[in-house]
Amino acid sequence: MAQIQIVYGSNSGNTQMVCKYVASFLKEHGHQVEMARGEHFPEDKLTGHDLLILACGTYEHGELEDHFRYHFWPRIQKLDLAGQKSAVIGLGDSKYDTDYNIESGRILAAYIESHNGALIHENLMINKCPLAQLETKVQDWTNELNKKI
Ligand SMILES: Cc1cc2nc3c(=O)[nH]c(=O)nc-3n(C[C@H](O)[C@H](O)[C@H](O)COP(=O)(O)O)c2cc1C
Repeated sequence: MAQIQIVYGSNSGNTQMVCKYVASFLKEHGHQVEMARGEHFPEDKLTGHDLLILACGTYEHGELEDHFRYHFWPRIQKLDLAGQKSAVIGLGDSKYDTDYNIESGRILAAYIESHNGALIHENLMINKCPLAQLETKVQDWTNELNKKI
C-alpha cells in the first residue's frame, strides 16, 4: 500500500472531478490517498509521500488556475523535491486557446523536473470536459500509473 497525496487547482470543478476519480481508483487498489486544494495545502507537506500528484486546469492563455497560481504556486518555488516520485494531471480546452492548450500539464511537469522531483508516468492531459473521459482515458492512465507505484 502506498501513501499518495494529490494537490490540485480547480475553478469550475473539472480537475477536482478527475482527481476524485483517480483517488477513488487508487483507493480501490489498496492505496491511502489524500486530496487537497493547493491554496489550502501547507508547502512543507509537499514531499515525503510515496507518490505526489499535482493537477490543475489552464486559464488565461496558458496559466495555472488562479487559486493555485496565486495562493500555492509562489509558496513552493524554493522547495527541493529531492527525488519525490510524482505524476501530473493537466486540463484545458482547445476552444479557449489552441497555442496554450493544457499548458498547465506542461507547467507542472517542468516544475517537478526543475525542482529535482521524479516523474514516474506520462502526464495525463485532458482536453475539454473530462466527464466522458473518466471511464476511458482517465481510468487507463490511472491503471498504468498504479503499476508503477
Ligand atoms: C476564461 C477561461 C480561460 C481558459 N483558458 C484556457 C487556456 O488558455 N488553455 C486551455 O487549454 N484551456 C483554457 N480554458 C479551459 C479550462 O482549462 C478547462 O475548462 C478546464 O477543464 C477547467 O478546469 P477546472 O474546472 O478544474 O477549473 C479556459 C477556460 C476559461 C473559462
